[in-house]
Amino acid sequence: MNIDLKYIRNQFPILEQTVNGNPLIYLDNAATSQKPLSVLEAEEVYYKTINSNVHRGIHTLSQIATVEMEEARKLVQLFINAKKDYEIIFTKGSTEGINLVASSIEPLVKEGDEIIISHLEHHSNIVPWQFLAKRKGLLLKVIPVDDNGELILSEYTKLLTEKTRIVAINHISNALGVINPIEKIIKQAHEAGAYVLIDGAQAVPHKKIDVQALDADFYVFSSHKIYGPTGVGILYGKERLLDAMIPYQGGGEMIKEVTFEKTTYANLPFKFEAGTPNIAGNIVLKKAVEFMQNVGLDNIMKHEDDIMKYTTKRLDELDNIIIYAKDAQHRSGSISFNLNIENIHSSDVGFILDKQGIAVRTGHHCAQPIMNRFGISGTVRASFATYTSKEDIDKLIEGIKLAQKMLG
Ligand code: ALA
Repeated sequence: MNIDLKYIRNQFPILEQTVNGNPLIYLDNAATSQKPLSVLEAEEVYYKTINSNVHRGIHTLSQIATVEMEEARKLVQLFINAKKDYEIIFTKGSTEGINLVASSIEPLVKEGDEIIISHLEHHSNIVPWQFLAKRKGLLLKVIPVDDNGELILSEYTKLLTEKTRIVAINHISNALGVINPIEKIIKQAHEAGAYVLIDGAQAVPHKKIDVQALDADFYVFSSHKIYGPTGVGILYGKERLLDAMIPYQGGGEMIKEVTFEKTTYANLPFKFEAGTPNIAGNIVLKKAVEFMQNVGLDNIMKHEDDIMKYTTKRLDELDNIIIYAKDAQHRSGSISFNLNIENIHSSDVGFILDKQGIAVRTGHHCAQPIMNRFGISGTVRASFATYTSKEDIDKLIEGIKLAQKMLG
């Protein structure tokens, strides 16, 4: 089924505005997506009618807020097909989810163990593992990529040893839009006895996710990239692993009993949710998930696949343009390119596009190692959402042509 783009776009008031005197063309969805009316309204309703703290009060508002937040957790459980709702931990984003695992997993690793990441990772799936490696004396190894930006799986096989304890890989690269073959990666890691964390920040907005079918041990993503509020994220973890891990932070909510001598911890998921959570955000995330379900995950995937193909074709028609990972077998969400003009930085192009109301991200996309791999300081990245239209892409192409004229 084709999606009703007009109906969808009408739900995003921000898309109606002009920027620098031109209609806004928003192509920075990999950084953050825009929010539909249902999300905006739910945030207002929460603060106007429910606002109170969760899991703490006997009073009515606190009970309503608690029920609504736990309903949101349940919906997320179903959305990614987790086995239990208490395997869903609310965080403030994908970055916090990865940091939580890289910190709380300490009892499950020992000196000399190895962690495998890839050359395609966002800094948030590199630095937390460097911290862990340093604290516990672990070795960090990196799966290389080929010139298409695809992971070299034969090298991955060689990197796996009996010492591999953790494999941490993104599902879709934020910098190049390449979809990684995580099914194979997870299977091989498990055969080697390693745990796998998948950074799904760029995948959940674009793909149907089934954490049980994937057999991921941990899967993280962010609300703000799936049409929900900022400051909210999800960490999915298998119950037996979360149980074996130590809390990430101490404070209220995560305890069973506290004395000055010792503290016992609350059951999952609360063991990992110290302090007052982002109650409004967690509740409103439900509306974002419902928005995606209402459009339909299959429809979103099909529409965005069409947009990806159309964008690749239109970019490819231009002279003097380098499209990264163009020949990768599977891509989704974003496309990265540069003008093939000497001494021109991606931000020069971004600046000219912005003057035309076109929002893209430029620079290294918090993924410096992959930029270094291609010998560049950054790219121009156009990234898509369910409301992206072919007309948006046509405007992008016109904008690039102008940039070529001005910078060439
Ligand atoms: N990680 C986000 C991006 O790729 C912010 O733009």
